[in-house]
Amino acid sequence: MANIGKIFASRACSLAKVATANNVRFYCAPATSFEFIKTELVGEKKNVALITLNRPKALNALCNGALITLNRPKALNALCNGLMNEVGQALDQFEKDDTIGAIVITGSEKAFAAGADIKEMQGNTYAKCINTNFLENWTRVAKSQKPVIAAVNGYALGGGCEFAMMCDIIYAGDKAKFGQPEIALGTIPGAGGSQRTARAMGKSKAMEMCLTGNMINAEEAERSGLVSKVFPADKVVGEAVKLGEKISTFSPLIVRLCKEAVNTAYETTLNEGLKFERRHFHATFSTKDRQEGMTAFVEKRAPKFTNE
Ligand code: CAA
Repeated sequence: MANIGKIFASRACSLAKVATANNVRFYCAPATSFEFIKTELVGEKKNVALITLNRPKALNALCNGALITLNRPKALNALCNGLMNEVGQALDQFEKDDTIGAIVITGSEKAFAAGADIKEMQGNTYAKCINTNFLENWTRVAKSQKPVIAAVNGYALGGGCEFAMMCDIIYAGDKAKFGQPEIALGTIPGAGGSQRTARAMGKSKAMEMCLTGNMINAEEAERSGLVSKVFPADKVVGEAVKLGEKISTFSPLIVRLCKEAVNTAYETTLNEGLKFERRHFHATFSTKDRQEGMTAFVEKRAPKFTNE
């Protein structure tokens, strides 16, 4: 009972269902198992990987005389080092798997993530931060070559908001709340919060969010360009998976190039970005998938992309 709900990450294992109880599926013991996240393959073709941040607090209880461990979603998915390392490991696995076209990351109904784990970092010193390159492991999400969609319900605060912004697209549930409350802890955002909010929402809104710690709701987040769509809370993961499925119908190679082109807009001047885009556009003409895509259009049939 101790690991109720733990779903393991290896693809081979995810295909080997061995038991079902309380609508939770159990899989065979895999090469990689996770403590703080759940992973599964979803969508009609099982070509979208879903990572669920799942950092409950263990609660021991007596049940008919036997000691059992129940997991309750209490720590609000505070992003401890172990959780972020596991997200990195899962992304490494999914990036290697050619059958996966997109990755969705979600949390619980109450919290996508309430930020970096304050209790874990409370005793950190400047020297420790420098010597351990604190938060460097967080950047793995932003470096993913495959498209990553955040499906946010509940709180996305501090590092949780930063984590969502490292993803390529954010879908939000209608009760989602975004904020950068680090100022109230005597610190500032450390995983991109001051930079990505400014780029996504403009200086005034970013300043207000970072200087006051005030939260914004899903509607405001959509209006300001932080999230692309808002759905009823219970629909947001399904919609994110549908989006992942749609992206997965295209050439993975071209999806990667397209993602690089959009990301370049973040990191360079307009002129440099336009040059980068034009060269990437030209480069697609050296691929079989570009040839197939245009030929299929002319022949009025669906394209068959081969990732070449
Ligand atoms: N780190 C560690 N524990 C956290 C946490 C965090 N970021 N956020 C919540 N928790 C814990 C609480 O300590 C509490 O644990 P206990 O039951 O042991 O007391 C549990 O989760 C539930 O939290 P609350 O009782 O506070 O729940 P609430 O519903 O009353 O409030 C909340 C929810 C508004 C999200 C509130 O928990 C909160 O303000 N959390 C902190 C948010 C924050 O400041 N995030 C920024 C972190 S710093 C950062 O992220 C730096 C960076 O840039 C990388």
